[in-house]
Amino acid sequence: MIDVANAPTVTRPQIRIEGAVKSFAGRVVVDIDELVLGDSPIEGLIGPNGAGKTTLMRMIMHSAKLDRGKVTLRRGPEEDVEEVVLSDLPTHRMAGLGVVKSNQVIMDFEKLTIWDSLLLSLAAAKYEHPHRIFSEAPLFEAHAEEAREYLDFFSFADPTGFAQSAGEKKLLDIVRCLLLKPRFLLLDEPTAGLPDELTEKVMEAIRRLASEGTSVVIVEHDLNVIWSISDEVHFMAEGNIILRGPPQTIRENRTVVEKYLGEGHV
Ligand SMILES: Nc1ncnc2c1ncn2[C@@H]1O[C@H](COP(=O)(O)OP(=O)(O)OP(=O)(O)O)[C@@H](O)[C@H]1O
Ligand SMILES: [Mg+2]
Repeated sequence: MIDVANAPTVTRPQIRIEGAVKSFAGRVVVDIDELVLGDSPIEGLIGPNGAGKTTLMRMIMHSAKLDRGKVTLRRGPEEDVEEVVLSDLPTHRMAGLGVVKSNQVIMDFEKLTIWDSLLLSLAAAKYEHPHRIFSEAPLFEAHAEEAREYLDFFSFADPTGFAQSAGEKKLLDIVRCLLLKPRFLLLDEPTAGLPDELTEKVMEAIRRLASEGTSVVIVEHDLNVIWSISDEVHFMAEGNIILRGPPQTIRENRTVVEKYLGEGHV
């Protein structure tokens, strides 16, 4: 039996962003003084096109190098918190630390079958030289059943074939993320272009993951998804988080309405 009184309190992983600036061609697109993600299980990140949402996620993954500033992952039980400076590490180390991001622009899955692309992404997360996977069948065997379950859950017709539609590619990217067993998951428009029933399934998978202790940050323009799934929402505009709060508060906020929602969307 679990000794509840003496069980270590496992805190949800958090990501702290401090003094983080990113510019492209001399133009500052993200400039965040201080931001903590992961206080709540599922946090929405919304804002107009070009606000810097994708760039912020890429800065966390260190696939966009910071001009200055620091991104830190805090994880572990309260009495023994471990801090890792993500902005000192290369992108390929992130998955090993449990930090995983889905892609807004879907990857080119056209040259690999559904199975092979999942196999390759598992290997890429594990090895610095992912081509080694072709002699590492046991790695995939260890994940095959789970992969099959996810593909079934998202109603993939034939995993030995190629992802066909934009929707299938999007879902395949989400399955890839789920198989990596993220502790901190960043989702960039995961339901864009999906039919309603698949959007529901993606939301179900996200909720389940969060209930098991994963911190989730989700960017979405479909605000029905944001309002219904988020415990807290961050509003980003012009490279900065200008508001955070419960969905209902953000939804009714005058600045959010003016800068993003437009009258009549509330
Ligand atoms: N690799 C890049 N090179 C040059 N400019 C870039 C690059 N990536 C992003 N930008 C610019 O940075 C700004 C922020 O872009 P970003 O993609 O982060 O916005 P976003 O909030 O994700 O927008 P959307 O909701 O349209 O996805 C935009 O003006 C964009 O054109
Ligand atoms: Mg974006």
